[in-house]
Amino acid sequence: MGLFAITGSGSGIGAATRARLEKAGHAVVGIDLHHAEIIADLSTPDGRSAAITAVLERSQGHLDGLLTAAGVGPPFSAEQMVSINWFGTEALLSGLRVALANSRRGQVVAISSNSTTTMPDLPADLIEACLALDEPLARSLAKKYGDGNTYGASKTAVARFVRRHAPTADWAGSGIRLNAIAPGATLTPLLQAGLDSAEYGPAIKAFPVPTGDFGDPDEIAAWIEHMLIGDGCRFMCGSLIFVDGGTDAMVRADAWPTTFAMPTGSQFGFD
Ligand code: NAI
Repeated sequence: MGLFAITGSGSGIGAATRARLEKAGHAVVGIDLHHAEIIADLSTPDGRSAAITAVLERSQGHLDGLLTAAGVGPPFSAEQMVSINWFGTEALLSGLRVALANSRRGQVVAISSNSTTTMPDLPADLIEACLALDEPLARSLAKKYGDGNTYGASKTAVARFVRRHAPTADWAGSGIRLNAIAPGATLTPLLQAGLDSAEYGPAIKAFPVPTGDFGDPDEIAAWIEHMLIGDGCRFMCGSLIFVDGGTDAMVRADAWPTTFAMPTGSQFGFD
């Protein structure tokens, strides 16, 4: 049986995934502000490195899987949000990569969001500052754009990181399968805080979910469980899986997949 680390294991989707992995006989080391083996604040560089050190100690440098679920949603300080949702995710993914490679079969799921494709006009400079790992710039841009835009931008950075890195030698070539899930509105404390706010509540309630209701955290956890330990999960690499009741398909049916022009000097071997 394997050893899995889960950030944000104390609540919502992270807690539901934890319960499923433990029921399947796996060991889980949780990282959270509360209700976890490792209590760490992923909004700060010190908290992130303490969390990584503690996971490496407990796992003796061999980790079978990782779920990055720690996150916050609006209303929240936009600067803190980008530090938690993106920098807290990237640091754990990168900081635990070698331990995942050491097991030769590391399975990783990062939680992105359907805000990546359903929110218009996300700030490209904030996404770029995230991917450039420039936390001071990202925090100042987050403050400028506000928490709603920062949420979608931070989750877009997570999705791009996964798609850029998953097929590389450091990840796929080291035996690690890195994928992302993009949940839609799922009834957890994070969503409830948004529903309760005068600023965001009406918009969240009006946002179309073609299947009808909000998702349940265990429905999202069921997909994550499959991506981590399900049959066939070893062939999934760099995928961004939408589980959102149809919102992404409804809002942007033709946005992707799209065709593209053949790059000159194609590296893909089909020219
Ligand atoms: P939740 O609020 O139930 O759980 C989030 C967990 O992250 C909490 O246990 C919290 O303590 C932890 N966390 C927050 N800040 C932290 C920090 N500084 N350091 C360490 N841990 C911290 O929320 P939920 O909904 O389960 O969220 C899980 C992930 O799913 C988040 O990344 C969220 O952005 C994402 N998501 C959620 C959606 C929803 O509608 N609930 C939709 C799309 C994505």
